[in-house]
Amino acid sequence: MGDDEGRTVSVSNHEVLPLLGQVAEAVSGAIGWARPALVGADPVVRRSEHADFQANAALALARRARARPADLAADLAAALDGGPIEAVEVSGPGFLNIRVPDASIWGQVAARLRSTRLGVGSPDDGRRTVVDYSAPNIAKEMHVGHLRTTIIGDSLARVLGFLGADVIRQNHLGDWGTQFGMLIQYLDEHPAAAWHSDELSAGISAVSALDELYKTARAEFDADPAFADRSRRRVVDLQSGDPATLAMWKEIVAESEKAFRVIYDRLGVLLRPEDSVGESFYNPLLADTVDELVRAGLAAGSEGALVIFSEEVAGPDGKPVPLMVRKRDGGYGYDTTDLATIRYRVHDLKAARLLYVTDSRQALHFRMVFAAARRMGWLTDGLEAEHVPFGTVLGKDGRPFRTRAGGTVRLMDLLDEAVARARAVVAEKNPELPAADLDQIAELAGIGAVKYADLATSRLKDYVFDPDRMVSLNGNTGVYLQYAHARIRSILRKAGDPEAAVDPGVAPEPAERALALELDGYGATLAEVGATLEPHRLCGYLYELARDFTAFYESCRVLDAAEPVRGNRLALCQLTARTLGHGLSLLGITAPERM
Ligand code: ARG
Repeated sequence: MGDDEGRTVSVSNHEVLPLLGQVAEAVSGAIGWARPALVGADPVVRRSEHADFQANAALALARRARARPADLAADLAAALDGGPIEAVEVSGPGFLNIRVPDASIWGQVAARLRSTRLGVGSPDDGRRTVVDYSAPNIAKEMHVGHLRTTIIGDSLARVLGFLGADVIRQNHLGDWGTQFGMLIQYLDEHPAAAWHSDELSAGISAVSALDELYKTARAEFDADPAFADRSRRRVVDLQSGDPATLAMWKEIVAESEKAFRVIYDRLGVLLRPEDSVGESFYNPLLADTVDELVRAGLAAGSEGALVIFSEEVAGPDGKPVPLMVRKRDGGYGYDTTDLATIRYRVHDLKAARLLYVTDSRQALHFRMVFAAARRMGWLTDGLEAEHVPFGTVLGKDGRPFRTRAGGTVRLMDLLDEAVARARAVVAEKNPELPAADLDQIAELAGIGAVKYADLATSRLKDYVFDPDRMVSLNGNTGVYLQYAHARIRSILRKAGDPEAAVDPGVAPEPAERALALELDGYGATLAEVGATLEPHRLCGYLYELARDFTAFYESCRVLDAAEPVRGNRLALCQLTARTLGHGLSLLGITAPERM
């Protein structure tokens, strides 16, 4: 079977050219006809409340065409030919209001329902994309910042994967460094210290125990120079692969990973154990990386250390900031390791796009690392490396989220709290739910609420962690969308979940039309998320969709309508439920069948 044949099959099975795209194509054609000099210009078509679609090309292009916008619009309207266009009208200073035929509206709905992909194409076709996310630090508690990278990174991995990218997840665990020397030395000298998960009482994880031990060891390190010396020797032992030290280190990593896994499982993120490729993985690659940097003349000595200065990147004070390639004591750190990640991901993993999902305070670090990698030729024109930054999680006081005592908030506690509140909301809304169902649904709603609140805020903004608002049934929340989905599923169950049968001859009501046109925009929304790496656009879309559904359901009877109207309305219900469920799944949120 030839390539072409394969492509034809996949198009007819999966992809549906949206009405928006078809209209844009038609307006593009008209631009080429009416003004050949402007061929290829953006037709600026979007959904509109005044018509089905509005094209603003005439306003955007009037100056280049040396014409009055209204005249250009009239010429474009006259040249419009083909495409799903029933009527076009020039309005205002030069807008084109475009109405599509009723049959095309229903045709879209039917085609999307037939498609296994809801009609969405795969523009990222095989593009190998590394998503570096989560990356907590071994022997330390995961904090709310790690919650954000885990949730955002996971959603991006899902969306890009659906758009056809070949996604490789990388959990860049902080599992290497001088701090391990101290911790291992301390544990060696205090063999009675309890830190294995099986020795701990319920509710305490090995990570919390290690976190505590770490603080104790740190205090001793600062107070006792002899202990500090022994700790430093331990670092050397670790780096030179001393078996006993290495064994201890492995045990610590394994215990920590066990605790992280509990959180990952509860969150339902895609990260698997084999996605853990932490800092230690790069340790054997660092000397080579540094050699290359030195040979290329990029890294230069500075007070005994090796650094890279870049003219392109200046710190907040305007002075150039160095990347630390090798410290004075010969050790390597975070900067060097990240240079090695680029080399590895480009050369060995053969990635075409590299994403690093960490908080915005690391923006300067990544700018410098990327600039150096470009100068080294590790990053070339066809390759994209992007830092995907995000804002801070705040407490109700508007300051970075902390416990009363000023410590980091344990993620498990946050999740427990959200689930408890979701449980109360669900139980009140549906007192008949059996207790076992209630537990399960509360878990899905609570976890979904935390994820949704994180994803729905524009990525760079800080947001306040407010469990009550998160689980609210009103407004742009995960629980609201889960309810919208469950309500539609219940309508469909009452109808006996029929095979969709759409009659294109029915004249749609305005609310049906609005809902169908919103559904038409699903693929475009996902493509936008893929390009901007902003999941909040998908959240906003799903929220609009749920509201359009509500408006439709309030003004159109479904179950007791007469055929063929009933069939068309059930098809709208089906497509809305599937789109909501699918969109939520791309956010990493489960939409239960009933709530
Ligand atoms: N472990 C780091 C932290 O907790 C995040 C690592 C992000 N990934 C990377 N390649 N630098 O801040």
